[in-house]
Amino acid sequence: MTILIRSGTVVNHDHSSRADLLVDGETIVAIGATIDAPAGAEVIDAGGCYVMPGGIDPHTHLELGFMGSVSADDFEWGTKAALTGGTTMVVDFCIPDPGQSMLAAYQDWRRKSEKAASDYGFHMAVTSWSKQVFDEMEIVVKTYGINTFKHFMAYKGALMVNDDELYNSFARCAHLGAMPLVHAENGDVIALMQEALLERGVTGPEGHAYSRPPEVEGEATNRAIMIADMTGAPLYVVHTSCRESHEAIARARANGKRVYGEPLIQHLLLDAAEYENRNWDHAARRVMSPPFRDKSHQDSLWAGLQSGSLQVVATDHCAFTTEQKRLGASDFRKIPNGTGGLEDRMPLLWTAGVNTGRLTKEEFVAVTSSNIARILNIYPRKGRLAIGSDADIVVWDPTAERTISAKTHHMRADNNIFEGMSVRGRPRYVFSRGRKVADGDTFVGAPGMGIHQKSSPFRPVQL
Ligand code: URP
Ligand code: ZN
Ligand code: ZN
Repeated sequence: MTILIRSGTVVNHDHSSRADLLVDGETIVAIGATIDAPAGAEVIDAGGCYVMPGGIDPHTHLELGFMGSVSADDFEWGTKAALTGGTTMVVDFCIPDPGQSMLAAYQDWRRKSEKAASDYGFHMAVTSWSKQVFDEMEIVVKTYGINTFKHFMAYKGALMVNDDELYNSFARCAHLGAMPLVHAENGDVIALMQEALLERGVTGPEGHAYSRPPEVEGEATNRAIMIADMTGAPLYVVHTSCRESHEAIARARANGKRVYGEPLIQHLLLDAAEYENRNWDHAARRVMSPPFRDKSHQDSLWAGLQSGSLQVVATDHCAFTTEQKRLGASDFRKIPNGTGGLEDRMPLLWTAGVNTGRLTKEEFVAVTSSNIARILNIYPRKGRLAIGSDADIVVWDPTAERTISAKTHHMRADNNIFEGMSVRGRPRYVFSRGRKVADGDTFVGAPGMGIHQKSSPFRPVQL
């Protein structure tokens, strides 16, 4: 199939220009001021629109078994919603049970991802340490094309790993040319604070936030940065939610350390007042880790995106239904942790970032696509509109408006934490490797179309 996208403004992270763009098969084959339509080509009028690289969400949990539930969106539902919102690739976390073989967990995730409608990659989680883990990490990098390993510093008694395990694993990552990722919260302190709150009779969702103050995240971020530095590994801090963690990352970068930070669209827009809502369901639907913060932290996160000390906006998409959240009706520790955002990340960030003047459209492309493509070592195949790149393309209409609602979203959960928010700026068309997958609000792709995108081991890049 040949497609000519005509009369738009092509936006990359480093440059924009008025140009036509020609796709042949799965690849971009020409970009120029005026391109004649080849015989038989489909011509897309992008007048008044921006033509941008498809979004990459590097933090999703699709069909994840977690805290006694399974997250509501599987690879089919999650990726259909992603594509409709302009995200053409997701990176999901393959999480072995502690002691389980990484190779077995990988086979589980391969099976789950067979129905993906969009392209996808994997991060592998290190949930325990042994000779077997040491050996399997090499297979994961060299055979499975996964160059990122996630470590949970929280969820004590479940997924949490201790400092000795972090050190061993980070050192192994450094040797393999892989990147360690951390969920940076001090799980030991959280467990003590949870106990203390329950003893005082605090059982509701607000207890979740009280037991995880910014200090537990700031401490863990600093600790992970220092341990990574001792092993010579770079570090990527997922869901950076607060000033304390951002400052640790910015300080490390100023000292020449290769450390990256990933705020979520949730933390940029929603705050801790949500947990004080008297409606239990409302508050519980917003329980995630780290929790939403006092509004003052948002300025720090936006400043990080503007100045480049934070590089990527993700979602940590891990949606649960209200019924699933009610597992924690009498004890906040049992509310499944996680929220959704995969479909809404791009329009929300455009609305709150570009329309307000906080981000340029080029910075928008950087933090939604190009930066993570470079960090994952899949750039410029992904994350750039250039000759030879995959034709993952969003034709973005900056005037299109919509009000977000669970009644109309493409995700499975019965709730949307952004319910009622209005966005201005949305995809008019989305293409995934040259195939039209969204036409306005309608998904026109197919489950099973997605391909696993492998990453090679890398030399760290400085963004
Ligand atoms: O609350 C969250 N973030 N749930 C998903 C698992 C994780 O910690 O990333
Ligand atoms: Zn996490
Ligand atoms: Zn996560």
